[in-house]
Amino acid sequence: MASTGDGMTKYEEIRERVKSNMKESRFIHSEGVAEMASYLSKRFLDDSESGRVAGIFHDYCRYMGNDELLSFCSSLNDIVPEEREKPMLLHGAAAGLVFRKLYPEYGNEYYLAMRHHTLGSIDMGVLGACVYIADYAEKGRKHITDKDREEILSEKTLEAMVLNILGREKKYRESLNENMAGVSKALMEYLEKGGVFTI
Ligand SMILES: [Fe+2]
Ligand SMILES: [Fe+2]
Repeated sequence: MASTGDGMTKYEEIRERVKSNMKESRFIHSEGVAEMASYLSKRFLDDSESGRVAGIFHDYCRYMGNDELLSFCSSLNDIVPEEREKPMLLHGAAAGLVFRKLYPEYGNEYYLAMRHHTLGSIDMGVLGACVYIADYAEKGRKHITDKDREEILSEKTLEAMVLNILGREKKYRESLNENMAGVSKALMEYLEKGGVFTI
């Protein structure tokens, strides 16, 4: 693990930054996501560190306001209608942009993973799938039961896990009489046809 020179590992430095930027409950969730994303990246990328790093930072900008998020993300050319309507959904994109600026030594897959963690995307990559699943199913999440969590994690591939979550999300949206976001729907159709995450 890389050290920053003052005895802290790079991960510890990033974790401290995240901790000082949010209230405790959000930080506990971020640690839960880091832990599960790390488990998944170990299992599917043979690398426990990338999931941990992307997971701890994914909600870094959760407290930005709507106007701030829209102006902060104004350089992006892939903002979807749902994000324009509910700019809060851009907190992942903002986190990705901040992360890329602060830690340019990490590759674009970290940006993509954070950017797409809210709605999911065909372009979120393997690391993005790890963060997306962990954000939905980390151990502190109370919107699913332990049995649901086990069922999601027992799927054999990341694609099957994401598809499982999207199926639940679809049912949930239907119960509210709402539609799924277009990017989430496109991802679901892609995975149903056997599409895989490639980055
Ligand atoms: Fe989030
Ligand atoms: Fe989150």
